[in-house]
Amino acid sequence: PQYTVVVPAAGIGQRMQADRPKQYLTIAGKTILEHTLNNLYAHPQIKQVIVALSPEDEYFTHLPLANQPWVKRVHGGSERANSVLAGLDSIDDEDWVLVHDAARPCLAHDDLSKLLAIATHSPHGAILACRARDTMKRASSSQVILHTECRDNLWHALTPQFFPLQLLRSALTNALKQKVQITDEASAIEWADGKVHLVEGRSSNIKVTQPEDLQLAEFYLQHKVV
Ligand code: CTP
Ligand code: MG
Repeated sequence: PQYTVVVPAAGIGQRMQADRPKQYLTIAGKTILEHTLNNLYAHPQIKQVIVALSPEDEYFTHLPLANQPWVKRVHGGSERANSVLAGLDSIDDEDWVLVHDAARPCLAHDDLSKLLAIATHSPHGAILACRARDTMKRASSSQVILHTECRDNLWHALTPQFFPLQLLRSALTNALKQKVQITDEASAIEWADGKVHLVEGRSSNIKVTQPEDLQLAEFYLQHKVV
């Protein structure tokens, strides 16, 4: 089967401190957003991407892929969850849907395949994730260590995240209504008592966030396993 991916790309990239939203910075001759979208569509099980853009976006329309039939645009919202919901609302009739950050251009195809294969055996969905490597500290707001978290079952949540469409739509809608803090799709499902599985993926699937991430992403793109 083939699936649709919703790609939230309406953020401003504050932590990157660049002259434009980070998804429009260039790595190896192409914008991060182009790398992300082209890489997704190149996977045989992806049929369409829905990209959520800021209503003020002035960059997307100039990209060579802007008018490709497999790319659909929607207006994103003030929070990531609003942007994702806008994308979900533009899908009529699908059972499952993927969500993937615009700022993750280095997703390997075999990790995506692994997620797609496992998730359909997991009725509430699944996400790519990687294990915590460093010793993890819980601290006070004044940066004093309170205690060391046991690392054994600590994971970094990555994207793509893969869920039944209607389950995700209602979980996100509810979480927004209740003003719960939602930093990924899985947290909305968790909040609704769903059981989301973790699928171990590569740590090279970074979210480009700070200036030093640009060089790292370039390295991974050049050495990518797809
Ligand atoms: N995003 C979005 N709509 C928002 C906020 C974020 O579509 N209102 C998207 C971003 O464009 C990004 C993804 O969600 O692809 C992950 O968010 P993040 O990495 O935090 O990006 P920004 O919010 O743009 O960066 P920052 O938090 O540094 O401002
Ligand atoms: Mg953000």
